[in-house]
Amino acid sequence: MRGHWSNRWVFVMATAGSAVGLGNIWKFPYMTGVNGGSAFVLIYLLCVALIGLPLMMTEIMLGRRAQRNPVDGMAHLAAEAGSTGLWKVIGYMGVAAGLFILAFYSVVAGWVLDYVLRAVSGNFLGMTAEEATNQFSSFIAKPGELLLWHTTFMVLTMYVVARGVTSGLERANKIMMPSLVVILLVLLGYSLAVGDIRHSLEFMFTPDFSKITPNAVLSAMGHSFFTLSLGMGSVMVYGSYLQRHASIARASFYIVLADTAIALVAGITIFAIVFANQLEPAAGPGLIFQTLPIAFGHMPGGTLFATLFFILVGFAAWTSSISLVEPAISWITENTSLGRRNTSIAVGIIVWLMGVGALLSFNAWSEVKIVGLNIFDLLDKLTTNIMLPLGGLLMAIFAVWVMHATHAQEELALNDKHYRRWLFATRYVVPAGILLVFLNLVGWLPLI
Ligand code: PHE
Repeated sequence: MRGHWSNRWVFVMATAGSAVGLGNIWKFPYMTGVNGGSAFVLIYLLCVALIGLPLMMTEIMLGRRAQRNPVDGMAHLAAEAGSTGLWKVIGYMGVAAGLFILAFYSVVAGWVLDYVLRAVSGNFLGMTAEEATNQFSSFIAKPGELLLWHTTFMVLTMYVVARGVTSGLERANKIMMPSLVVILLVLLGYSLAVGDIRHSLEFMFTPDFSKITPNAVLSAMGHSFFTLSLGMGSVMVYGSYLQRHASIARASFYIVLADTAIALVAGITIFAIVFANQLEPAAGPGLIFQTLPIAFGHMPGGTLFATLFFILVGFAAWTSSISLVEPAISWITENTSLGRRNTSIAVGIIVWLMGVGALLSFNAWSEVKIVGLNIFDLLDKLTTNIMLPLGGLLMAIFAVWVMHATHAQEELALNDKHYRRWLFATRYVVPAGILLVFLNLVGWLPLI
């Protein structure tokens, strides 16, 4: 018998825990900055609503129907529909994508852990913009420290994974997630008081269509997959642990809403600090590490808030990271006699090694480039922009063109009107959207 969540709220919390992570707090603001602001945000929001939401339902539905890990699950569903076993590639690609993402994710989560210590020691007090920037650049220049923190985070992740799905972490999550929201609101309050909130809102929400490039469109779409944990089987595995009769649509809606709201609040807050301090919005991956210490360093109770903030972000990263390896772990344990513990150790070592390559991209190996990208960027771009959307495209095609309609309908348990909406979105909007973005990128279509 496979384990199941004890109730549907545990599922919603766990899937939201997977979705909310570095993608919201670290990646969304920095990508928005690099891609010029509002146009990126607008496309990201469109992708979340038109592609992300229906696909969230689809992926949960596939997982619950399959009751297996993503590789065997897809094989099983394909057999049930009388189609080819080749659909397993969705599962394989997901397993690989999860490990690639975790490799660079763990490096950044390591930065967060390091910043917890800096925060506790009162390091940010009175910090100027220049000091904050220097602090970050000298930190990532040292591979030793990055290695220590990356290793720590990988050990934390694999420890929880080795112990199975419904561990204490999910219970702790119930307190940690709401606390993260509270601290984010405190930060937002600070930004409203002393940041340049007008400039921030203008940057994020006044559409400037001249900034829409094929690359910005691809990044925005890719990010909507990344932030919602879609297209690689994480949500599918979590769905496979979901008991019958829980409403998939409602769960999906809450998860997508929470994830998007958290990203927007983080973005608004950070850009208000950026503009108030004449910082560079396009600073890249270091953006939050160069801006937030300034804010914390000048607000009352800043040391406490900063410490809590970085702990909670580390926590959010932790609940995401366990979902990144779960497709691989469930696939291996359900097919071998290795057991969860040994599997976790073996997989952990592989990911750790790739992560070492990623962390060296900021220092010793900064010149090592593959197709023009360093290892960190390569792992990120390959997964976010290609593997996840491709996985999502195949899942959508499978769900509406291959699977028996009655099976999908049975799992989703929607009323007629909502079912038809889901069907339309999954049959036309999702595949067309993803394909358009892909074709644009290779230059086969002119960007409208
Ligand atoms: N959604 C997570 C985040 O935003 C990252 C993630 C991607 C987790 C894909 C699982 C699968 O941080």
